[in-house]
Amino acid sequence: MDVFKVSGNGPLHGQIEVGGAKNAALPILAATLLTEETVVLRNVPDLSDMRFMLEILRHVGAETVQPEPGTWEITSKKITHVAPYELVRKMRASVCLLGPLVARMRKAEVSIPGGCVIGPRPIDLHIKGLKKLHCQVDISNGYVHVDASAIKGGPIFLGGRSGSTVTGTANIVMAATLAPGTTRLECAACEPEVVDLCQMLVKMGAKIEGIGSPELVITGVDKLHGCEHSVIADRIEAGTFVIAGAITRGDVTVKGIAPKLLGAFLDKLEEAGLPMELGEDYIRVLPFTGSLKPVDVITLPHPGYPTDLQAQLGALMTQTEGLSIITERIYPNRFMHVPELQRMGADISIEGPSAIIKGASKLSGAPVMASDLRASAALILAAFAAEGDTWIQRIYHLDRGYERFEHKLAAIGAKIERLSDKEMPKELLEE
Ligand code: EPU
Repeated sequence: MDVFKVSGNGPLHGQIEVGGAKNAALPILAATLLTEETVVLRNVPDLSDMRFMLEILRHVGAETVQPEPGTWEITSKKITHVAPYELVRKMRASVCLLGPLVARMRKAEVSIPGGCVIGPRPIDLHIKGLKKLHCQVDISNGYVHVDASAIKGGPIFLGGRSGSTVTGTANIVMAATLAPGTTRLECAACEPEVVDLCQMLVKMGAKIEGIGSPELVITGVDKLHGCEHSVIADRIEAGTFVIAGAITRGDVTVKGIAPKLLGAFLDKLEEAGLPMELGEDYIRVLPFTGSLKPVDVITLPHPGYPTDLQAQLGALMTQTEGLSIITERIYPNRFMHVPELQRMGADISIEGPSAIIKGASKLSGAPVMASDLRASAALILAAFAAEGDTWIQRIYHLDRGYERFEHKLAAIGAKIERLSDKEMPKELLEE
């Protein structure tokens, strides 16, 4: 297995380019099943999660061609309605197949994805939405079975305990595009990735009003057609690079991202006193002296502060003088990186849904274990600020969602290497 060796770093300098968004590309890939015509997708990141989704699409019957890196031509002439456990278990986002299968096949059998380290990931809202579309939904033997022969639009309130659902909204919008009548979806997710999906669906001939707002009105059409679409930039990758610049006190220009996609995140960093220059399609982090200010932040659905940038901000706050409070409202267990940061010397205590971070701590390199995608990124960021070497294991989590992460960061001066665990000092290896 691969590991990262990350060494304490001086300031990073230079330009770093953002790729296509994983969380937009996943439902967009699923949406290609909505038509028998060819869909051409560009700016698709090269990630293990994309490979899982493409594998499932091929299993269902899609033909996939990659004419050049980042571009996929997908044609789904004849498809089946079954997504089996062997494939679905590899990735939670495969639940996004439900909407397109229901819409096109009028039936679906999709295995229920397994648990997840960041907390419960229920799909009750997806099911509620489908029922409101007059589908019959049964759960048996670990599968969701949907009979959508009577599918019909209607009013749906899709909010749950934590507000809107991103993949739930994607599923119901996709299902409604080909459902007779009008679907009025309230408490729809407003994440830029959902907007990107809706814009692609409109290119395919879908009728969707209110895109980007919490109320979407979808008027069903008989057929969707092929289109060309370029996936939106990854705001979470961009935010991670912004923090890499800040934590090393570097001068880093994160290119290919519209700052307006990161409103709440940039607002917090401004409040912390991080000097930045914002352009139309870039964010430049400028060097600073002294300490940033601590922050009090709560993760919320968009346009609130994103949970996917919670762990990375925590890493930065270990280097900020004073008490920061980071409250996680979306995923209760999303603090798995905290014990690892503590092993590096961070002063963090967990109080209910909040991490109380007392900075600035002198961090030192240690062998640590990545537990999920964003936790992996947080550990690497902390390692930049630590003295000595940090060995990060289980980096397959990172490979799910960051494309060429170590190459991009090494190009602006980061000391990060991907090695085989055989090259890791034996006494540091996990049992
Ligand atoms: N929820 C329910 N019932 C449901 C669905 C969700 O109660 O049926 C709850 C969840 O438990 C959670 C909240 O609603 O508390 C929001 O979950 P949501 O459904 O929005 O999450 P998701 O669609 O499963 C996507 C991203 C996540 C990201 C979240 C929140 C994809 C493929 N995944 O997940 O990305 O954290 O939205 O923004 O789009 C990541 O990239 O690291 C990642 C985990």
